[in-house]
Amino acid sequence: MSKRNILVTSALPYANGDIHIGHLVEYIQTDVWVRFQKLRGENCRYFCADDTHGAAITISANKQGVSEEEFIAKVNKTHREDFAAFGIEFDNYGSTNSPQTRRFCNEFWNKIVEAGLVVEREIEQFYDPVEKRFLADRFIRGTCPKCGRKDQYGDSCECGAVYSPKDLIDPKSVLSGATPELRKAKHLFIEVEKERAFLDDWISNSGALQPEIVNYLKGQFLSDELYPWDISRPAPYFGFEIPNYPGNYWYVWYDAPIGYVGSCLEWCEKNGEKIEDWWANPKTEIHHFIGKDITYFHTLFWPTTLKNVGFNLPTKVHIHGFLTVDGEKMSKSKGTFVLARSYQKYLDPEHLRYFFSSKTTGRVDDLDLNLEEFANKINADLVGVVVNLASRSAKFAHQTGLSAQYPDDGGLFAQAAEVSEEIAEAYETCDYGRAIRTILECAYRANQYVENAAPWTLNKQYNQALKDPNATDSQREEIKAKLQDVVTVSLNLFRQVAIYLAPILPEIAKKTGELLNAPITSWDEVKTPLLGVEVNEYKHMTARVSKEGITAMLEETKEIMGAVNDTNAATASKWNDSDQPLKDEPLAETITIDDFAKIDLRIGRIIEAEQVPEARKLLKLRVSLGGEQTRQIFAGIKSAYPEPEKLVGKLIVFIANLQPRQMKFGLSEGMVVAAGPGGKDVFLVSPDEGAMPGQRLH
Ligand code: 2FM
Ligand code: ZN
Repeated sequence: MSKRNILVTSALPYANGDIHIGHLVEYIQTDVWVRFQKLRGENCRYFCADDTHGAAITISANKQGVSEEEFIAKVNKTHREDFAAFGIEFDNYGSTNSPQTRRFCNEFWNKIVEAGLVVEREIEQFYDPVEKRFLADRFIRGTCPKCGRKDQYGDSCECGAVYSPKDLIDPKSVLSGATPELRKAKHLFIEVEKERAFLDDWISNSGALQPEIVNYLKGQFLSDELYPWDISRPAPYFGFEIPNYPGNYWYVWYDAPIGYVGSCLEWCEKNGEKIEDWWANPKTEIHHFIGKDITYFHTLFWPTTLKNVGFNLPTKVHIHGFLTVDGEKMSKSKGTFVLARSYQKYLDPEHLRYFFSSKTTGRVDDLDLNLEEFANKINADLVGVVVNLASRSAKFAHQTGLSAQYPDDGGLFAQAAEVSEEIAEAYETCDYGRAIRTILECAYRANQYVENAAPWTLNKQYNQALKDPNATDSQREEIKAKLQDVVTVSLNLFRQVAIYLAPILPEIAKKTGELLNAPITSWDEVKTPLLGVEVNEYKHMTARVSKEGITAMLEETKEIMGAVNDTNAATASKWNDSDQPLKDEPLAETITIDDFAKIDLRIGRIIEAEQVPEARKLLKLRVSLGGEQTRQIFAGIKSAYPEPEKLVGKLIVFIANLQPRQMKFGLSEGMVVAAGPGGKDVFLVSPDEGAMPGQRLH
């Protein structure tokens, strides 16, 4: 049979965040599928890239004080490392900010324009008057107009509703907290409705989508007119500028899926292949793996693009649900928002591959990582059943090697070989849970065999016979041959299991190859026993999951997430801080660093503090700058600090170069830094331990 040409992608992770275990659900699912296809001998290639454009990247880069290019290069490196640690093997991992992706953005654009799908319209868009930029939908939050949930993104809600940010109730800028203003700007739109006939047909009849997805699309989108897709963003925007439309950039979601093609082109260039032989070859199957939240980009806009540029339509869009941990949404405060790095530090990546796979059904349901179930499953099934099979026989096999002929095993090897297509079909449909159940049945039977055949008893008998002067050589040989036959059967049954699990457990597959001096290279190897080979010394294949490992991982996560200062922190942090203070006093106009440098903020120590009887609000402070230098400051903090003597000795922050002011009670030579609305609610700001009077704040 001729090989299938299969092009596979996973969603491109945003370059403004770390890879976490929620991401890994998808990358593991895809990698398993790709490894399965490769093991079956198909011509399968796996492409991915960082999704690098958009306002979020600029904001993150600014925070770190680096250029966007530097920022995304750094992230690209850590993303690659994280994926590699989990055995996720791409044929190419690129970036949407590449010449290859740019080329296709341009080429596709020309065709979409030629097809008459692009129109220009003036729209009103939210503008942050403090940050002085138009706001991407995700930088606006407010109340969902459909279900009334609070704190939802500007374009979509957890309830599944998709809307325009203008419809959001009580919108706020995530960047500054300010209420955004509507401003007019010209945008380009792709009129998807013009492709309705095509989309209706493709969604219902192509077989590319899971039935629940077809229903969702029909219910949420196709039942109404498809709204035009706003594809341009005005400067400033990190992305590709639209040809002949200066000052405007393609929206990140235009070029993100084109990144699939860009990454594939990078690979083609390195491997002497032609892009058309993949994307425009009727023989090529295109398989996208994505999460349910980005369904509509991949099932409405992306097929519309592909159709108009003459590339293959997706053969399948494999859509999965979200990860929950212990039945709940991943949570930063509970420590369940686990980064790939933290997981890997304390637990074995292959265990996660195994566990996720055991829960993968090929349907859109969410997947739960119950940590107790995780530990039990790994310890019972993977360590207790699968690896145990090898460890119990391999040490004897190291002495005997494998028999030259396959012994009578009561039909076990044949029985396991027979389910090969059944397991393959489960992999093909992403029902890895079913694949694992069938594989485990083979492993249970094999363990039963080992239990009955008891190689450890045969080994003992053999050692006794070696020592026994009355035993004959032929008696010794007979026991040895029996032992060799038993380990030949058990290791061959183990090898079948290892081959079947190889897409999920590449490390264990590799170690199995090393143990038996025969690397696993093809699915069909389950049909032929391995005979007459030496067996290497058994090396540990995997360890049990420890409760301590899990606890340490959760603890570390809590710590990291507490310190994370990402753009979501204000809305998604564990502190649940009120937005009232910002509402009461919106951020001031932007100043330059030079403006800031004019203010000389210093650490000071309060060395005297006393009431000013005639003044309602004031305390008189003497603040030391170290050495002989002191300042007298009148501060309006009397209600908040009714016992001034308690302030003596305290380190504070104050403005040291404010023009002195003559007051009724004396000269005030500075101003202490405090927060709060006033009255009792005034809070002096003090430095962390170690700061010294006289030090400047930068
Ligand atoms: O949702 C996301 O994380 C996007 N970065 C996925 C992009 S997928 C593709 F279209 F590029
Ligand atoms: Zn809603």
